[in-house]
Amino acid sequence: MISKSMEKALNEQINAEMYSAYLYLSMESYFRSLDLSGFANWMRVQVQEEMVHAMKIYDFVDARGGRIILKSIAAPETEWKTPLAVFEATYKHEQKVTGLIHGLVSLAIKEKDHATNTFLQWFVNEQVEEESSADKIVKQMKMMGNAPGGMFMLDRELGLRVFTPPATQGEQK
Ligand code: FEO
Repeated sequence: MISKSMEKALNEQINAEMYSAYLYLSMESYFRSLDLSGFANWMRVQVQEEMVHAMKIYDFVDARGGRIILKSIAAPETEWKTPLAVFEATYKHEQKVTGLIHGLVSLAIKEKDHATNTFLQWFVNEQVEEESSADKIVKQMKMMGNAPGGMFMLDRELGLRVFTPPATQGEQK
């Protein structure tokens, strides 16, 4: 059984993960409007990953005897100035999510909720990867600048990203 405060905090994180999926879906649609199908593919995979994150927490709250309460998901932005601005926003958003996860870990430690703390460690590690993959693309885009063919090459590379679902949802990967 989890405490009411932990249940509330995890419910908020389900909402944050679903918002992340919504934000990346909006970014995908922006890239589709620019005919950058590889960039759009990268975002689609990101959407799928965020839904896995949300469902992992959903299943965990349920397994611990908590109650899942779904709230409305905020509308994401729809326009960005450049593809680079999209990835800068992605990196910034992931840093924010990392902060939320760390806040949950701190709460679990404060409440001596070892099961939730252990569960959250998967997310702590996942956030390292989430930040690093967005940051890598930001750096690549800055490096290529206005080099001819740069966007074409990157679009092709990002088009290769494939969604790999965790072996068993709701459990550690
Ligand atoms: Fe669910 Fe992108 O962190």
